[in-house]
Amino acid sequence: MGYPIERPMRLRRSEALRNLVREHRIAPEALIAPFFVKENITEPEPVASLPGVYQHTLSSLEDAAKAALGAGIASVIIFGIPAAKDSVGSQASSRYGIVQTAVRRLKDAFGDDLVVICDLCLDEYTDHGHCGIVNEDGSIDSVATLERYAEIAVSQAAAGADLVAPSGMMDGQVAAIRRALDSSGYSHIPIMAYSSKFASSLYGPFREAAECAPRFGDRKSYQLDPANRREALREALLDAEEGADILMVKPAGYYLDIISDVKAATDLPVAAYQVSGEYASLVFAARQGCFDLDAVMLESLLCIFRAGADMILTYFALEAARALQ
Ligand code: PBG
Repeated sequence: MGYPIERPMRLRRSEALRNLVREHRIAPEALIAPFFVKENITEPEPVASLPGVYQHTLSSLEDAAKAALGAGIASVIIFGIPAAKDSVGSQASSRYGIVQTAVRRLKDAFGDDLVVICDLCLDEYTDHGHCGIVNEDGSIDSVATLERYAEIAVSQAAAGADLVAPSGMMDGQVAAIRRALDSSGYSHIPIMAYSSKFASSLYGPFREAAECAPRFGDRKSYQLDPANRREALREALLDAEEGADILMVKPAGYYLDIISDVKAATDLPVAAYQVSGEYASLVFAARQGCFDLDAVMLESLLCIFRAGADMILTYFALEAARALQ
């Protein structure tokens, strides 16, 4: 052994030393907690396929946001489940819709301490469960859909949302929403675009939580094909051109190459959504004794940051913040 050997292990000899040379860290302020709020219920209802996640009442939502703030999570994204659904998702843009009411309540209670993001879509509000307005033949009416998105954006901003997050994957949605916000006095409200969102099988538990499974067909005519890496980057760049302020990749853990591509190709902040199926798989596998939940949770988040995410939407937000304390 008369030659010098590289010795990376020198830097792994103690936990303190390993911490010193860590390239990525999980910061609670970069985690966004998704919350569901349901109209006309009196008690929070647990979601069977998402242990630890609830359909909230307005008051349990406020309690949950307070607990999140207490743990160091300062951003939430709100999904609403209305009492009444129709073909155009009227409740999505109603001044007294469940999301608008919830936002007013959270902003009253927490002001600028809490970043309140509104998911902007129609699937929770339409009786057919699709993310847009549907023609008789089952196809999407793009023009009518973008008009609805514009109305929803303005109503969410009027209620006090800090950010709107269009998740429908309809062409032109970011431009339409930007134009509507700007012309209604909300040019200061940023758009977090679900820009590279795939037609994934991992949304199952969310569809139980948000009561939004499509009644017919699927979302493959508007969401990305999981096989398409270059197209995912093209979608992200188009949203950037249309005026998105934050680009999102969704799901996260199976799509790290996409996160990495988007990060390299733009200067905008990049968000990643660790979706319901990713969360549920880890929770249920841990319950079967496959691994320690805290350890796998932190590893999953760390790897998503390592790929290039600046922030992560995750059902683990609170647990992760607590585990890091
Ligand atoms: C659509 C929307 C979905 C999710 C977030 N926004 C469902 C879908 O596209 O079918 C899924 C998030 C998750 O699985 O956690 N409004």
